Amino acid sequence: MAIYRSFPGTASALYELVLAGVIGWLYTELPMSIALIIPDRKLDDLQQRLQQALPDIPIEIWPELNEPAEVEFAVVWKQPHGCLNGLVNLKAIQCFGAGVDSILSDPTLPDVPISRIVDPALTDAMVSYLDGVVSYYRLRLDLFSAQQQQLLWRPKGPRKFSHITVLGLGELGSAAAQHFTRLGFHVAGWSRSSKSLPGIQCYAGEEQLHQAVASADVIICLLPLTAATESRLNTNFFQALQPQSIFINVARGAIVDDAALLAALNNGPLAAACLDVFRQEPLPQDSPLWQHPAILVTPHVSAVTNVSTVVSQIADNYQRSQQGLTLHHPVNLLKGY
Ligand code: NAP
Ligand code: GLV
Repeated sequence: MAIYRSFPGTASALYELVLAGVIGWLYTELPMSIALIIPDRKLDDLQQRLQQALPDIPIEIWPELNEPAEVEFAVVWKQPHGCLNGLVNLKAIQCFGAGVDSILSDPTLPDVPISRIVDPALTDAMVSYLDGVVSYYRLRLDLFSAQQQQLLWRPKGPRKFSHITVLGLGELGSAAAQHFTRLGFHVAGWSRSSKSLPGIQCYAGEEQLHQAVASADVIICLLPLTAATESRLNTNFFQALQPQSIFINVARGAIVDDAALLAALNNGPLAAACLDVFRQEPLPQDSPLWQHPAILVTPHVSAVTNVSTVVSQIADNYQRSQQGLTLHHPVNLLKGY
């Protein structure tokens, strides 16, 4: 006390030093963990594989976290808003899918780097789904399926598809565009920035959207959902399409104005639409999209993250976040994807 009174500066400096030491010790001793925040999904497989890749790090499944302050890295998909906010030592977020719109829509999102999945297996799955859907319509399986319901035997030759346009020329869109080019289609693509891809007619920016789709028999949407793309595929867009064209949405439901889509199916120019994604998922029972005879609904299955192929990139990103390195496949928060 005497020292404190005579040399207050020295004593308080000493006190702060001891306090910093104790806090530092506490932090080095705290067993930092990884949280899997992926509601409504069985996570045993992901947890086990990640544990094998990172044997010394506790891998916990939200909401059963031992201590939220221990979480330094979170693997996230459609998190309830606010749940990341309590993770005071979070260093990075790994999105468990390719699209980050549901993560970014959280108003309480912590200010940490975010990465997303880019995986050849995911890309192959998407290309294979699109290949199947394009063949389905080309071979008129939609028509024959409807005819079967009415016991009708009416043969008809394949649709004459020659032009395909892919909206979004990123990881998935460019792979799809290249696939259909290899099959001999005339392929066009549309992106935000200009591109040059062999064999693909590339368009970019708002002013070239209508040009990009003008000759398309099939239009495939592989855009991310952002402020710029929300409801972007509206009446104006659908009216710019060719008569009898086919629309496929494998990106996000909210990019499409559903009323405009239904009008384009009912009154032209669209002949049919295949929808894998919806504004609200699961698609509500009373949605008119379920019952429409020209719509094929699939339950968001075109490219599902494959646990076995993505574990190594998640583990690697965890290590990178610990070392203060830039994550693989970082999300650009300004662009929103
Ligand atoms: P990506 O690599 O980020 O590519 C996005 C593409 O969209 C880029 O070419 C980008 O242009 C373009 N783009 C973005 N905003 C635009 C705008 N305002 N105008 C024109 N073009 C714009 O994304 P990805 O990995 O290919 O994935 C695309 C989306 O697919 C994801 O965001 C996700 O929503 C969806 N997805 C769905 C499933 C499923 O199962 N249904 C599975 C995986 C992914 P730039 O090249 O100029 O940046
Ligand atoms: C799925 O929709 C994804 O974005 O990975």
